[in-house]
Amino acid sequence: MSKLFSKLKIRGIEFPNRLVLSPLCMYSAKDGIANDWHFSHLSTFARAKVGCIFAEATAIREDGRITPYCLGLWNENQKNAFKPIVNFIKKMGSIPAFQLAHAGRKASAKQPWKGGLPLDREDEKIGIHKWDTIGPSPIALADGWQVPKALNKQEIDDLVLSYIKSAKLAIEAGFQVLEIHAAHGYLLHSFLSPIANKRNDEYGGSLEGRAKMLKEIAISIRNNIPDKVPLFCRISAVDGKKNGWGINDSISLAKILSEVGIDVIDCSSGGIAGRPRFAANDDGSVLKNNTDRGLGFQVPYAHEIKKYSKIKTMAVGVIVDPNQAENILIDEKADLIAMGRELMYNPFWLLHAAQTLGVDPNYNLWPDQYRWGVNRRSSIEKFNNVK
Ligand SMILES: Cc1cc2nc3c(=O)[nH]c(=O)nc-3n(C[C@H](O)[C@H](O)[C@H](O)COP(=O)(O)O)c2cc1C
Repeated sequence: MSKLFSKLKIRGIEFPNRLVLSPLCMYSAKDGIANDWHFSHLSTFARAKVGCIFAEATAIREDGRITPYCLGLWNENQKNAFKPIVNFIKKMGSIPAFQLAHAGRKASAKQPWKGGLPLDREDEKIGIHKWDTIGPSPIALADGWQVPKALNKQEIDDLVLSYIKSAKLAIEAGFQVLEIHAAHGYLLHSFLSPIANKRNDEYGGSLEGRAKMLKEIAISIRNNIPDKVPLFCRISAVDGKKNGWGINDSISLAKILSEVGIDVIDCSSGGIAGRPRFAANDDGSVLKNNTDRGLGFQVPYAHEIKKYSKIKTMAVGVIVDPNQAENILIDEKADLIAMGRELMYNPFWLLHAAQTLGVDPNYNLWPDQYRWGVNRRSSIEKFNNVK
């Protein structure tokens, strides 16, 4: 029996298998509204039977978008645009999942294929205007980035309300899993990390202080969504920087979050001072200066957090091989496997993995529309060697 293909029930939702499409920004929306690209992109993975499919990081309010082309969910138009996507994912038997995001001091940027740096005069020329960014403290991400406005207490309270509103809209759109994005240097991660958070009020200082806003958001969302809905939180398990956030902080945070209704910690890393480029040491200890992001480089974080915080974890990061994924689950290093780039490269990865692992010799996992044809594909395999 394959673990990758086993079901998992969290609260009221049954995941049909352990594979999750990691959230992948497409930077292709106008006014935060999903369009045919998003439908086509996400429905591919539903046809490919990925168990749970995350839409990209979606801003809870306008200033929370990374770029002007990111998805948002703060109004009815945006909600309605998600519905056909969500319905199709469900129709294929997968679980639609939603990532609530605010880009914080990394907002107001260009698309990655245009360099990913802050919006500037070039963008002004084509009518794209930069906007003011926010953060815990007035510290820019890096040279050339805006100095964010430090949020005051009233603004933090307002932000919590925006998270609640967006979470409710996501539920109304039909999403069955929600995730709070607190990783990759975006707003909530910037509050967690001592590198970006130099506050001396109740939202800074100790780990409890730096985690206070995330905790308040988690409590508020949990209180405003149905009990049956699993709530994930994506964190950067380590900053990979001197005096930054480390794995022991993540273990403490996971304990705090599990007590307020977070069900799964989605274990990513890095991003606090630019792009995430960090790896774990082989023994899972806090990394030193390792910039090599090798196979499963973040799995040790999922493992440590699961082991010491007694919470479910999702592993992500260069997981590419069926046996690798299977072993992560068998060894109880994580409960779910998220994949991003490899699924973009090979969307039908899971169905191919089923062949590799010998769990689906007759293509029963495939959609009806494909199965009968794929079943007869063996008759053309002899031509595969023709050059
Ligand atoms: C094109 C692209 C877009 C991404 N967008 C998001 C996002 O919206 N939210 C997020 O938390 N991570 C995002 N990530 C990170 C991925 O979800 C994932 O954690 C990362 O790519 C590592 O997994 P992989 O090695 O399987 O790709 C993105 C990564 C890529 C390559």
